Amino acid sequence: MTLIDGKTVAAAVKDRIAEEVKENGYTPGLAVIIVGNDPASRVYVNNKKKACEYCGFHSEEYALAENTTQGELIALIEKLNCDEKIDGILCQLPLPKHLDEKAVIEAISPAKDVDAFCEADVGKVMIGNYTFSPCTPAGVMELLKFYNIDVSGKNAVVIGRSNIVGKPMAMLLLHANATVTICHSKTQNLKEICRGADIVVSAVGRIGAVTADMVKEGAVVIDVGINRNAEGKLQGDVDFENVKEKASFITPVPGGVGPMTIAVLMQNTLKAYKSNKKIK
Ligand code: GUN
Repeated sequence: MTLIDGKTVAAAVKDRIAEEVKENGYTPGLAVIIVGNDPASRVYVNNKKKACEYCGFHSEEYALAENTTQGELIALIEKLNCDEKIDGILCQLPLPKHLDEKAVIEAISPAKDVDAFCEADVGKVMIGNYTFSPCTPAGVMELLKFYNIDVSGKNAVVIGRSNIVGKPMAMLLLHANATVTICHSKTQNLKEICRGADIVVSAVGRIGAVTADMVKEGAVVIDVGINRNAEGKLQGDVDFENVKEKASFITPVPGGVGPMTIAVLMQNTLKAYKSNKKIK
């Protein structure tokens, strides 16, 4: 079994970006908006800011109160859409319940949508001709590539159908010529479907969602879940201790997919900068 080291692969991606930025005197700028006090979101936003520093990017954080109105949030996004120092805008999700997430996502200029969440970007991902990569799914693809894991013709099972992970993950695997099955909470024979998978990607958000009896001997197991266990420690969806005995490759949590999400966000921000500044 090979443990997939997302931290090291992400560091290599960020090192390449930092080098390119330094060599060329680029000044990519990322604005990160966080609304309210969700502790998990706070950790993610801090990590994104740290990655900006590492890569030599300019970053601005907008920490808004829980009771921010839709109008105030949209006004901020519209201001950032016109701000020349800002190439990418990211609004950390989930938003407090009274805010309309979909309208907020669509308010971000497609030229600055480094999360690739807006309808136009999602559509481009489906067609397979896109500038901004969906961060987490593209991070998974980078890991597969780094470890020379051949996807073409393989049975890939994605568990989860969210717009952020499950659906775009399935598309990227499909573009890489996998035979893709998407499973979800209404799937009836999840265990049988997973047992036929050469590659399993779990994006459920529940500890124990993938157990050893669901995994074929030699399968590649990618865990996108980030959950807190009873002791408050981070834990993925996959029963790591037992599944690692059967898997050929497996990602840990933390240190697997998570760092890759942020590395792709940095790639997208650099792309946005070059495109906004008309640099080839
Ligand atoms: N919430 C969970 N993942 C993400 C992400 O990649 N971007 C944003 N903006 N919010 C998230």
